[in-house]
Amino acid sequence: MNTYRLALIGFGNVGQGLAKILLDRSSWLEERFDTKFVVVAISDMHKGSCYDPDGLSISELLDSIDNTNNLEGVTAPNQGWDSLQTIQDSNADIVIEISYTDLETGEPALTHTRAALQSGKHVVTTNKGPIALYFPELIDLAHKHNVEIGVEGTVMSGTPVLRVGMDIMQGAGITKVEGILNGTTNYILTQMETGMSYSEALLQAQGLGYAEANPDGDVKGHDAAGKIVILANLLMNVPLRMQDVSCTGITHITEKDINAASKEKKRWKLIGVLDKTDNGCEASVQPELLPHNHPLYSVSGATNAITYTTELLGDVTLIGPGAGRVETGYALLEDLLGILKVQTGK
Ligand code: HSE
Repeated sequence: MNTYRLALIGFGNVGQGLAKILLDRSSWLEERFDTKFVVVAISDMHKGSCYDPDGLSISELLDSIDNTNNLEGVTAPNQGWDSLQTIQDSNADIVIEISYTDLETGEPALTHTRAALQSGKHVVTTNKGPIALYFPELIDLAHKHNVEIGVEGTVMSGTPVLRVGMDIMQGAGITKVEGILNGTTNYILTQMETGMSYSEALLQAQGLGYAEANPDGDVKGHDAAGKIVILANLLMNVPLRMQDVSCTGITHITEKDINAASKEKKRWKLIGVLDKTDNGCEASVQPELLPHNHPLYSVSGATNAITYTTELLGDVTLIGPGAGRVETGYALLEDLLGILKVQTGK
C-alpha cells in the first residue's frame, strides 16, 4: 500500500470539499490504486492548525468545522503551527496550497508554494495567484527539486480543461481560447435574469462557495483574467501577464440591461478571449451580449465553458462546473492522482 501524507494550507470551502471527497472515496482509492491519502496537517490563518505525523481524523476535522468553525478542539499532538512551519517541518509528502487568492502579489500562496517545492514536497493548488503571476519560476523550481506541481483547479475547478488542453490536445495546435471562466459572475447574471438583485445574487454565490474570499476579483473580471493568463502560459507557452489582459467586469450591468437583453432573447455573459498572434497573444475579458443561438448562451449558473479553436480539430468545447466546494476539491484529487501516476506508473 502506498501512503501519501498531505498538509493542507488553508481549510476553507475547497479544503473542506477535498476532505469530504477523501473521506467518501477512501475505500475506492485503496482498492483502485492501492493508495492511502492521509491528512497529517492543516494550517489555516483563521481556523487554527493541527499536525499529527500519523494522520488526523478527517471526520473529526469536518465535525469541528461544522460545530465551531475552527480546529481548536481537534485531537493532535501539535497545535498552532503556522503555515511555513507546517510546510517545512511536517512529514507531508504533498502540500495542498489552498489559502486565499491574491492576483496582485500572489501572496501568501507564493511563499507557501516556493517553500514547499524547496523542501522537496509536491504541490497541488487551486490558487490562481502564484500560478498566474509566477508559473515559469515555479515549474523550474519543481523540476530543480524533482517534484510535481498540480494546478488543474486553477481554471474551471474540477472540469479538466488544463489537462485536456496541455496533454491530450497538445498536438492539435490551439490557436484561440474563448469561454465563460468565472462561476460567480455567471451565477449572478443568471440569477438576475430571474429578477434577483445583484447584491442578493452575490450573497448567494458567496454562500454556495463560488466567490473568492474578496469577491471584487470575481465581479471586476480579474479572476477570469487570471485564468486567461494561466491558459496563455500553460497552453500556448506565451508569458502573458495580468496587465496584458484588457479587463472589464460586470459591476456596471444593471437589472435594466438584463431585462432589455431578455426581451431580445439575448444574454449578458462575461467572456474571456485569448487569441494567438505572430508575436504572442491578444487577451481580453469583458461582458458580451450573446444571441440565443450562440453556443455559450445556455451556459448558466456556476457552470463554465471553454472553446479551444485548433488547427487540426476545429473547435472543441468543454462545459462543466467552474466553481464550488466539491467541484474544486475534486480538482485537487485529479492532481493527487496525477502525482500518483507519475510516481508509481499506476
Ligand atoms: N471565484 C471563482 C469563480 C472560483 O467564481 O469562478 C473558481 O475559480
